[in-house]
Amino acid sequence: MGGSTQFIIAGNWKMNGLLQESLAFVDALTANPNPDAVEMVICPPYTLLHPLAKPFADKGVTLGAENMYFEESGAFTGSISPLMLKDAGCHYVILGHSERRDIMHEGNTLLRKKLDAAWDVGLTPMFCIGEHLEEREAGATNDVLKQQLSVLAGTDANLPLVVAYEPVWAIGTGKTASPEQVAETHAFVHEELARLGRKCKVLYGGSVNPGNAESLMACEGVDGALVGGASLKADSFMEIVAAAARVAA
Ligand code: PGA
Repeated sequence: MGGSTQFIIAGNWKMNGLLQESLAFVDALTANPNPDAVEMVICPPYTLLHPLAKPFADKGVTLGAENMYFEESGAFTGSISPLMLKDAGCHYVILGHSERRDIMHEGNTLLRKKLDAAWDVGLTPMFCIGEHLEEREAGATNDVLKQQLSVLAGTDANLPLVVAYEPVWAIGTGKTASPEQVAETHAFVHEELARLGRKCKVLYGGSVNPGNAESLMACEGVDGALVGGASLKADSFMEIVAAAARVAA
C-alpha cells in the first residue's frame, strides 16, 4: 500500500448489467470481511444507479458511475450530468478510462473539464491513466503517464481524487503487469502526483482476478484495484475483496 489506510476495490461493470441480474448480484454479495481495511465500490451503468443505490448502501458498497458529461444540465441529448450522478447517490465517478480515451477520443482538455465539474458537485473522480503496449515497448510509459497526469496541474490539491493506473495492454486481455512493473510504475505515479502537489490512492487495473489480486495488492504503492470482468460476479468480486483484506491484515 502507498501509505494510506484502506484499500479500494472498485468494480467497473462497463456496458454490462440488466436490472434483474444486478439485483441477484447484490443478493449474492457476502459481508465485507474488514470494512476498515477495504472499501467496496461498484460502478454500474447509468440505468442501474438509482435502483442499486439503496441495496448497495445496505451491503456497504459505495456507488460510483463510469463516466459523465461536464455540463450541469441543458441541451446535451444523451448525456449524463455530474448533478444527476450525485442525485442518484454516487460518491465516485470514473474519468479518463482508456475505453473512453481510445473509442470516444477523450483527451486532456475534455478530461480537465470533467474533473472540475465532478469536484464542483462533490464527486470523487477515479482518474484512469495507462500506456499502450507500443508505448511500453518503446520505453515511453512514464512520459505517457506524465502527460495524462498533467491535467491535474493547477487543481486544488485538497479536492478528493483517486488515480487508477491501468496499462491498456492488460485490460480485458488476461495479461497483468508483473509485480515488478506494477511497483515501479506506481512509484513513478506517486512521485509525479507529489510533484503536482498531490497525495492520493493509486489503484491498479487490468485483468485483476481472484488468482492474482493478493500479489498485486501486496505491491508497494498499490492502494487497491479497479476490476472489470472479475467484478461482474459477486463471488469473484468478494474473493478480490478478501485478498485485499488479507494483505491489509
Ligand atoms: P478488466 O478491466 O479487469 O476486465 O481487465 C479493467 C478496467 O478496464 O477497468
